Amino acid sequence: MKAIFYASSTGNTEFVSKMIKKRLEDFELIDIASDGISKMEQCDSIIIGVSTWGEGDLQDDWDDCYDELQEIDFSNKKIALFGLGDQESYGDEFVNAMGTIYDVVSKDGNEVVGFTSTDEYDFEESTAVRNGQFVGLVIDEDNQSSLTKKRVDDWCEEISGKL
Ligand SMILES: Cc1cc2nc3c(=O)[nH]c(=O)nc-3n(C[C@H](O)[C@H](O)[C@H](O)COP(=O)(O)O)c2cc1C
Repeated sequence: MKAIFYASSTGNTEFVSKMIKKRLEDFELIDIASDGISKMEQCDSIIIGVSTWGEGDLQDDWDDCYDELQEIDFSNKKIALFGLGDQESYGDEFVNAMGTIYDVVSKDGNEVVGFTSTDEYDFEESTAVRNGQFVGLVIDEDNQSSLTKKRVDDWCEEISGKL
């Protein structure tokens, strides 16, 4: 089974999740606010969408599932991440929630695909940056919504053969 697991407080991550689903049709779309993450165990390919709230915190529904997420064995799973954030208002903790999720889903030594360049973004700090790259796709609907479609297109093309 392949699935996109997402949660969304104001609809931005949901919007991007649906865009990704259109491009990667064999993935099931799962809103964790209603369906939780219990199906994650059965998946061999997983895409996770998370937005950052508070000051660098996980979005609430991901926060609720965080303990359960830590119990999952990811060692034979292929993973890709995308994160939503606001680089202008939260430039010191930009998309940190994606960094938090990355630490959990990569803990079993499995590969996470779909890292992206930080070049087109203007921010101070982010825990979602490792070795100079974001650990997934980064979308900023608050400041760079005109770039979203191309970012999603390019990323889906890149990861489609890897997941
Ligand atoms: C109160 C508040 C706190 C936020 N905190 C952060 C943050 O720490 N880092 C960040 O990158 N974005 C932050 N954001 C921006 C959201 O992550 C962004 O608007 C995102 O698109 C929301 O996605 P969602 O509607 O799918 O939850 C914050 C937004 C609000 C309103």
